[in-house]
Amino acid sequence: MNEVNNQIYETYGERWYTADDDPIALLRAESKAKLPWVLNEIQKIGAKNKQTVLDVGCGGGFLSNALAQNGLAVTGVDLSEESLRVAKAHDITGTIQYLPADAYHLPFADQSFDVVTVMDFLEHVERPADVVKECARVLKPGGILIYHTFNRNWLAWIVIIKLVEWLVKNTPKDMHILRLFIKPKELENFCSEAGLSVQSVTGLRPVIMSLTLKSLFSGVVPKTMKFKTTPSTLLSYMGCAKKNC
Ligand SMILES: C[S@@+](CC[C@H](N)C(=O)[O-])C[C@H]1O[C@@H](n2cnc3c(N)ncnc32)[C@H](O)[C@@H]1O
Repeated sequence: MNEVNNQIYETYGERWYTADDDPIALLRAESKAKLPWVLNEIQKIGAKNKQTVLDVGCGGGFLSNALAQNGLAVTGVDLSEESLRVAKAHDITGTIQYLPADAYHLPFADQSFDVVTVMDFLEHVERPADVVKECARVLKPGGILIYHTFNRNWLAWIVIIKLVEWLVKNTPKDMHILRLFIKPKELENFCSEAGLSVQSVTGLRPVIMSLTLKSLFSGVVPKTMKFKTTPSTLLSYMGCAKKNC
């Protein structure tokens, strides 16, 4: 049985922010498209400058750093200490607490945070339902879990795994594996088992027009590459689930 390759995150260093010859550039472009949706969901539960956020599996800090720049009090945790070092170096607010931690055992008391985020993360663990439970534990009642992950179907296998392997240089082996992708209904069930109710879901997809034919076959991700939200959750999706009071 293939295992997802989580060792790669120890090797990126500054390439989290600079590489365009690597799928990490896709994650960077995706993160830009996720931010307005995430901020809007947070805004729904109250003023941004009053919310505490835990970003689980924060990696190089794309979301954590952007949220802090928007006035939120952010803690970011990840297993990769090298990624945390890069994330911290890019925190221009100097306010974020970056800590090494395992998502299965978060080093925080029950009901500590208003918002927990797991972006491009649940498909990187073998027991996503347990991670969702652990995130729910540290959420305050009425707090929200915001997630992004990939749907499990043949189209997602072709576009997210195979096309990336074929078209983007330096794609690591087993960066994503289909077995760990999650159908939206399964994730909704994980949430309800953890005492969370899904409030909203949106799809996310690449903007094909942001790619030229030349760039498609160059092996690099062009700086023009963009993603956008879409009603279809066929490829990848974000969701927001509220902890029951
Ligand atoms: C695809 S990256 C996503 C990073 C970030 N959330 C983003 O959207 O840019 C997945 C991250 O999960 C981290 N990770 C994998 N397993 C973990 C675990 N059990 N606990 C904490 N972090 C973990 C990896 O080190 C990596 O940084």
